[in-house]
Parts: sequence; structure tokens; C-alpha cells
Amino acid sequence: MDGISMDYGIYLEKIIEKCGLSGIYESIADSVLNKKTIGSEFMGWMDYEASPALMEEIYEHSSFLRDRFDEVVVIGIGGSYLGAKAAVDFLSAETAPGIHFCGYNLSPDTYNRLSKKLKGRRTAIIVISKSGRTLEPALSLRIILKMTGIDFSRAEKAQITAITDGNSGLLREAADQNKWKTFAVPNDIGGRFSVMTPVGLLPLAAAGADVKKLSKCFCDARETYRTKDIRKNSALRYSFIRFNLYLMGYLNELLITWQERTHFIGLWWQQLFGECEGKDLKGIFPSTAHCTRDLHSVGQYLQDGRKELFETFFWVKNDLDICIPETNLGDKLEYLAGKNLSWINEQAKKGTRKAHENSGRPVIDISVDKTDESRLGELFAFFMFSAAFSSQFIGVNAYNQPGVEAYKKEMMELLKYAK
Ligand code: PA5
Repeated sequence: MDGISMDYGIYLEKIIEKCGLSGIYESIADSVLNKKTIGSEFMGWMDYEASPALMEEIYEHSSFLRDRFDEVVVIGIGGSYLGAKAAVDFLSAETAPGIHFCGYNLSPDTYNRLSKKLKGRRTAIIVISKSGRTLEPALSLRIILKMTGIDFSRAEKAQITAITDGNSGLLREAADQNKWKTFAVPNDIGGRFSVMTPVGLLPLAAAGADVKKLSKCFCDARETYRTKDIRKNSALRYSFIRFNLYLMGYLNELLITWQERTHFIGLWWQQLFGECEGKDLKGIFPSTAHCTRDLHSVGQYLQDGRKELFETFFWVKNDLDICIPETNLGDKLEYLAGKNLSWINEQAKKGTRKAHENSGRPVIDISVDKTDESRLGELFAFFMFSAAFSSQFIGVNAYNQPGVEAYKKEMMELLKYAK
């Protein structure tokens, strides 16, 4: 990884020393890299690259959306939403049309807010559901159609786009019946690994991102993780360190973001690791926090609370900055006049790390040197390989999510029979 670095701190060096860099990780890497793990039929993400013809289609359709509409509403939940949202924010894409996400909850206020934004605006819809049978996006589509007055059976060509299974599912049937524009989600790629398919690429292209560059950098970065040599493979290193912490009783990981634009990278990461690992009564519980905001909430816990949690700092060098103006407010902070806010943020991060490590809290520090498509592609590849290695260390199938079905079953019962 060129512009992404990782520092495990003195404390974690000890783990490497203690465990040695021997043995287990090689066979783990071997099973993942040679697709010998359970769930290997969903490891298409390791080799998938949008074909030139598909890329053309994505560009053509996104130009159409950008030219013709003021607003694009992207409907989806979980892996059908988080990657695209994280990427739009990370790139701080100058979106014209405006890109709005919904269908990720059942909360009326999301739609109240949206209806104000969409009023009188030319709006297109991208609805994403691989299975085509998830309740939240299905209801969301109905609400947005009503809100915008789009007649789904006679919509202007390609005003509604469905990204779903290539052959089956309720969304596929509706799309084909009503002649909506469609893109297929590859069979062998599950939601949380799908950001480099049309699931992520179309919303991002509509937001104006350079998705050819993103896809190429993702594919190039992937090659760097196809080695069993842990010294050369940072994804294998990260997952190996996490696994050792897990064995030592650190059962929770908190990914801390320090820039607002990466808040959703934290949420995408949380979904990726949570759904991959959390099963069979195993797995590291992933959660995310935003600092320095949360130093004034869970910061107290991180300093003095129970010890079963380690932190992963996720830092990106921001291309935007703000200089603290000279004001003479008389609050004895004038020595900071002329300093950049990012520099102050960095000192906060360093100070936090020192304080937390002093109290025995392990901290992994990941830093990214810029926020463009190339780094984003590398990051997606890094975390996807890390999740695959990590699940294999822990001994679970990274590619299913049986627990998600449990809530759906109970909810559907209530929806059918509750008064
Ligand atoms: O990673 C996953 O597979 C899940 O998070 C799914 O993306 C999520 O449940 C949404 O599923 P679907 O795209 O079928 O509506």
C-alpha cells in the first residue's frame, strides 16, 4: 500500500515478538488466496473487475442521470448502500445532481427531510437490492415514487434504475415488467463485498467520481494482498494482530475516525467485519466512533473502563484546512493563532494515543495520505482482504449472515399478524 501506513505501537510489537511470525498465518492466507475456505462460492470479489463494456454503460447512464436530473435518490440497505455512501463522503464528491440515500431504515423523519429536498426537483431513482426481497428498500421505493409522483410503469426512460440479481428476485421481476434500466449484481459477490460492482460504481459515477480510476486502483491493490508473506501483506498483518488481540481477550474493536468525511468508512468497515465475523458465538465486535467528538463521551470509557477493547485509529490527511485566526479573545489560546486545524487534530490524535496506551489500551494506527479515488480503491481492497483473512483466523464463514434472517422472520410475522 503506497499511501496507507499502519503502526501497531510498542505494545503490539510485543505480540509479534511473543507469537513470532510463524506458523498459522501462512495456512490461513493459503486457504483464502486459493479460495479453499467455506463460502468460497462468494469470493468473486477477489477477481471481479467491471468489464470495459460495463464501465461504458455505467458512464453513459451516469452522464444521462447527471444531465437530466437535479436529484438522484439511492435506495438500499447494508452492503447495498454503505460502500457507495462511504465513498461519496470520502471523496467529498461535488455531486450535481444531489445524491440522497434512503431505504436503510424505517424512520419517517428520513422521508420528511427528503421530501423538502426533492420538492419541485427532477428526480431519478436508483434502487439496489441483490436479493430483491429486502423490506426496507422495497418500502422506500414505494414512498419515494409517491413523493416524487413518478409513474413507475410509464417512467421516462431510465428514470428508475434497479441494481439487483441478474435473473431472479422480486425487484428483478418488477424492473423487467416495467422496463426500468437494470444492472446485475454478480452471483458470486455478496452485499458487503459489492462496492466495486454497479452497486457502488453507478451511484459514485452519478456523483461525478472517477470510477475507472477507482476500479483500477482497487484491482492493482488487490495484487499486493495475494501473498502469504506477512511482511509484505499489510491486510494479513492487520488481521493477524487483531486475531492475537482477540485470543488475549480483546473481544471488541473500536475504529476511530478523525475526519467527518470518513465517518461512513467507519460504518462500512463495521458492517463488513460485523457480518463476516459475528457468528457461531465468535468474532470481534466492531464499533466505530468519531473523534475528537467522542473523546467527550466514550473517551472516558476508553481511558478508564474495562479492558476487553482495542482501538484502531483511522486517519486521513485532509486536503482541506482551516487556519485558526488571530482574535485576541482573551482566553489564553492565542498561541494557537496561525496553526492549522488539521495539525491541532493530529496533536489530539497523538495525545489520545499516548494517554490510552499508557492505560494499557492497544492502539493500531492506520493513516492515509490523501482522499482520492486511488486511495479509496486501496482501502476497499485492504479492508476486504483483512475481513477475509480475519474470518478465517477466527474460523467462521465470512460470506453468510444467518443472523440477519432471524430478525426479518420475527418482523414479518409481526407485520402479518400483529394488530
Ligand atoms: O452484506 C450483505 O450481504 C448484507 O448486508 C446485504 O447487503 C443487505 O442485507 C441488503 O441485502 P439486499 O441487497 O439483498 O437487499
